[in-house]
Amino acid sequence: MRIVSGIQPTGNLHLGNYLGAIRNWVRMQDDATAQGGDCLFFLADLHAISMPHVPAELTANTRAMTAALVACGIAPDRSTLFNQARVPAHAELQWLLNGTARLGWLNRMTQFKDKSGKNRESASAALYTYPVLQAADVLLYQATHVPVGEDQKQHLELARDIAQKFNNDYASEEAPVFTLPEPIIPADAARIMSLRDGSAKMSKSDPSDMSRINLTDDADAMMQKVKKAKTDPEPLPSEAAGLEGRAEARNLVGIYATLADVGVDAVLRDFGGRGFGAFKPALGELLVEKLAPINARFVALKDDVAALDAILERGAAKARALAKPTLDATYHVLGLCR
Ligand code: TYM
Repeated sequence: MRIVSGIQPTGNLHLGNYLGAIRNWVRMQDDATAQGGDCLFFLADLHAISMPHVPAELTANTRAMTAALVACGIAPDRSTLFNQARVPAHAELQWLLNGTARLGWLNRMTQFKDKSGKNRESASAALYTYPVLQAADVLLYQATHVPVGEDQKQHLELARDIAQKFNNDYASEEAPVFTLPEPIIPADAARIMSLRDGSAKMSKSDPSDMSRINLTDDADAMMQKVKKAKTDPEPLPSEAAGLEGRAEARNLVGIYATLADVGVDAVLRDFGGRGFGAFKPALGELLVEKLAPINARFVALKDDVAALDAILERGAAKARALAKPTLDATYHVLGLCR
């Protein structure tokens, strides 16, 4: 079992990242390392330059996101934690896989369409080939499982298509170069939505900070954001079916259920028939209870630049060694002399 996943170090870690991905990283780390499997988690700083960015902020965010991941429970002595830029094999493998990825496949990627918007001609080439780098990220390490939120599913399917075509074109069935990775998407928290709009996902790029809970928000800010969250005037239903067509209500109940580690039906057994005036304070308190310890660990770590850089350097050294056999094999089967 080899678990690999990444996160872009742009802005703060928010509740969508945490419930959709990072909480699963920590759980899988704990299970996998107990069974002798290994885990690699990285800051996707090379992906971050696909959009306009401020260099000094990228450096600071890379360290801040490292502190946030450790605060969430990623243990650098059990998992390999690093940033892509320190492991050149990611960029090298991307180039090698560009020969296999098809334009038609990249043209179907919804993230490129969303992020490039109406002004596609001025989008960066990196934004277009972004999914090939993401494929390289996981194929480089022979990842078997990739814990992500729903929005990354299409990119993981592309990684499988690239691996399959590459294996068919350049390797034998008995000795494939790449393992086909399996996306692991949480059942209830696959897509945490904005607090201001139940049809948009919670995202770092939303201009309104009120749309998301950041893991760095203090208790007052969390309570305030939940209080101001968009809802409807109806009381909560007693069964999950009653949330149909009520995107905002469904999102808040889903967040509660995931944080409390119970099903949506259990939440509605307690709150069915009651209004948001009763539900929102309970949700706010639950958020504060679950996130305050993470926040406290984050605050204690975030300014220790030397310790954070040491974690990333140590992780990168391990990652470079783990990447080498697959990178070498890829050059070799392509007939490239080095
Ligand atoms: P990123 O940085 O946008 O998000 C990191 C992780 O958080 C999940 N996520 C969500 N889950 C549920 N609800 C939401 N509202 C929500 N918002 C974000 C994402 O699905 C993701 O799992 N391209 C990736 C980073 C990446 C990567 C990889 C991931 C680069 N290489 C290789 C896996 C494997 C990204 O931008 O995630």
